[in-house]
Parts: sequence; C-alpha cells; structure tokens
Amino acid sequence: MITGIAWIGASFYFIWLDNSLEEPKAKSDSDKGVGGELWSVHGGGMYHAQKYRVLPEKMPEHLHWFKWEAYTTWLTGMFMMALMYWYSAEIYTIDPGVAALSKPVAIIIGLAVIGVGWLGYNWLCESRFGKSENLMALILLVVLTLLAYLLCQVFSGRGAYMHYGAMLGTIMVGNVFFVIIPGQKDLIQAKKEGRDPNPVHGIRGKQRSVHNTYFTLPVLFVMISNHYAMTFGHQYNWLILIGITLIGALIRIYFVARHKGKASLMPIFTAVIILLGLIVLMAPRQSTLADSASLPPVTTAAVHKIVQQRCSTCHALQPTQPGFQVAPKAIVFETTEDVTSQADVIHQQTVVTRAMPPGNLTAITDEERASIDVWFRQLKQM
Ligand code: HEC
Repeated sequence: MITGIAWIGASFYFIWLDNSLEEPKAKSDSDKGVGGELWSVHGGGMYHAQKYRVLPEKMPEHLHWFKWEAYTTWLTGMFMMALMYWYSAEIYTIDPGVAALSKPVAIIIGLAVIGVGWLGYNWLCESRFGKSENLMALILLVVLTLLAYLLCQVFSGRGAYMHYGAMLGTIMVGNVFFVIIPGQKDLIQAKKEGRDPNPVHGIRGKQRSVHNTYFTLPVLFVMISNHYAMTFGHQYNWLILIGITLIGALIRIYFVARHKGKASLMPIFTAVIILLGLIVLMAPRQSTLADSASLPPVTTAAVHKIVQQRCSTCHALQPTQPGFQVAPKAIVFETTEDVTSQADVIHQQTVVTRAMPPGNLTAITDEERASIDVWFRQLKQM
C-alpha cells in the first residue's frame, strides 16, 4: 500500500499534467523544443513544468526516473502474497467447499494465473487486436470476467480476489519494466548516438500507460478487499469483482477526459448505475425462515459448542491453531457470555458472509451454520 500510493499518486499526477499542458507562452521556450507548459502552486511554492516535444538540446545532469515505486509495490506485494496466500494457502487460498485442492496445486494455479496473465496480455497488445483501443478494452473485459469466474470456482473468494488483483498488478509492473522504461532508455540512448528514436516505443508506451491507468483503482480495491467479506464471500463474488473493476476503470475514464477539458458525466453515471446494482445484489437477504419462533429452539449452549469446535481454535485467549499467536482482531469466544454478547458478529461472519472460518479450515457444516441462523433469529425474535 505504501509504495503503491507513491506509484499511483505519481502516475495520476503525470497523467493530469500531460493532459493539462498549455502551449508555451515564450517563443524562446518554443524554439528550445518545449511543446507544453504548466504553472501550478503547491506547498507554498510555484512550479513551472515544461514538456519537451522530444528531448532538450542539452541533456540535464540529473534526470529523475519513476520506476522504483512500481517495482517495490510488486516486490513487497508478491512477498506478502507468498507468505499469506501460498505459504498459508490452506487458510487463505484453499476452500474445500469450493474445490478440494492440495497446497502445491493451489500454488501452481496461483503462479500460472499471474505468469500466463502477463504473457497473454503482452501477446494481445502486440497482436493486431492491440491496434484498436476499443477492441482491446472489450477483449480485456471478456477475459477478465472469465478469469474472475474461474478463479472463484477454484479458490476461496478471498484468495480468488487476491490472485485476480495480483495478476492485474503484475501486468501493470510488467508494462513499466518491459515496455515503458526500456522505451524511455532507447529515447535517451538514441539522442546520445545522434539517431532518431524508434517510434514504436512511443506508441507502445502510450498504449500500456493507458491500460495501467484503468487498472489502478481495481488493483487498489483488491489490495484491501480482504476486509470486505460481503464482496468476496458473496454467492456471485466474481460478478461483484467485475462490477468493481468496471467502476474503477470508469472513474479513471472520467478523470482523464476531465483533465483534457472534455468531461462527459456518462462514465460516472454508468459507474453509479453499476454501484447501485452491486448494492442491490449484496444487500442482506431476508431469511427464508418465515418465522423463527415456529422452529424448534436452538439453545445458546448448542451454539456455544459449535463455536468452541469451529471457531475457538483461533478465537481463544490461547489459540491452538498453528500460526495464530493471539486471537484475530482480539475476538475471543470462551464463555457462553462471549457468544451471546457477540451474536451479531458471529451471525454476520458465519451465516451472512460465510467469511468465517477462513477457508472453512475447521470444516463447519451447513447444518451448523443454519443452527446459528435460527438461534440468532430466536434471540432477536426475528
Ligand atoms: C483459522 C483461524 C480462524 C477460525 C477457525 C475462525 N476465525 Fe474468525 N477470524 C480469523 C482471522 C484471521 C480474522 C481476521 C480477519 C481477516 O484476516 O480477514 C478473523 C476475524 C473474525 C471476526 C471479525 C471480522 C471483522 O472483519 O470484523 C469475527 C466476528 C470472526 N472472525 C468470527 C469467527 C467465527 C464465528 C468463527 C467460527 C465459526 C471463526 N471466526 C473462526 C481467523 C479465524
């Protein structure tokens, strides 16, 4: 997140800058090769940025590159991915209720999605499909939808989201590492050698940065998506992921157009419609239990037993689940009182979002979930 903020912040700034440039006022600047300029004020000072049509006559002594923000985002992100979603795959990635994968198989699928994702994307961009921006957008949408769907058929919702985001993030960093930076290096090398730079780099670099800007917000969402069980825990989690991807892309489409001074509200309008659709889709359903009072009573003692068996390996003063030193989020279920006082969150996490137990590690059954549902409703007289 930290380096991601630095990367995405710089990227948003440069896109804004590029789209906001004005013709240089001074003829001397224009003669020097300046194609656009912009005055701004920030942090108590005035800044005057100038963009050269190609390169300045004399190369500056110090030239700042923007690349380590991207690389460190990927390196740290992949480290965390490996630590949590691969090393602890049985907790975060595998859900036997979705697919009973073995750990090595889960890791291989995860790596393959990321690797093949980049190779396939790169191939698409270089192929004749890559020539049309709209066609490319359509193909990417179809492929991403398919991928989101398939990932949700093999991994836990949470693991599926994280791999989807890691693949998009890898494409973004791949674009910087393999395409954009080498293109910029060639531009400067060409200047040193007195030859014309290869124009293909400019075209490619432009295409890849356009894609990157539309991927930023979906990737940011996935980075923090583990906090939103209502999304990844939903029955149609793949559809929700695609909806959020579209919303993120539409927000960027709107802002890019706005910086160019030709904003139409259409993208925002569409994003709001999709968001409303997601809200309706994700809204908690009324229980199918018409009247819980008419059902045989489920006692708190019975629920306490379920919770002790399925939850307290982690949610205890001294967790017994390997890898858990303290109770996650300091949520502890020891006494009956712990269970009744936290009835709302137990119901929320176990019945509504089904986020707990993670990856159904403790193999809670659907009957047990139903018992918790009935108990909760009887407690609340719903
Ligand atoms: C394998 C360990 C493990 C088991 C078993 C487990 N949990 Fe959790 N629980 C976690 C972790 C880890 C978190 C922290 C949230 C996260 O990382 O997504 C958590 C978070 C929670 C939260 C807080 C959610 C929030 O976002 O505020 C609740 C409530 C909860 N668990 C209830 C339960 C219940 C009820 C059960 C049993 C049905 C259960 N947990 C079983 C590991 C576990």
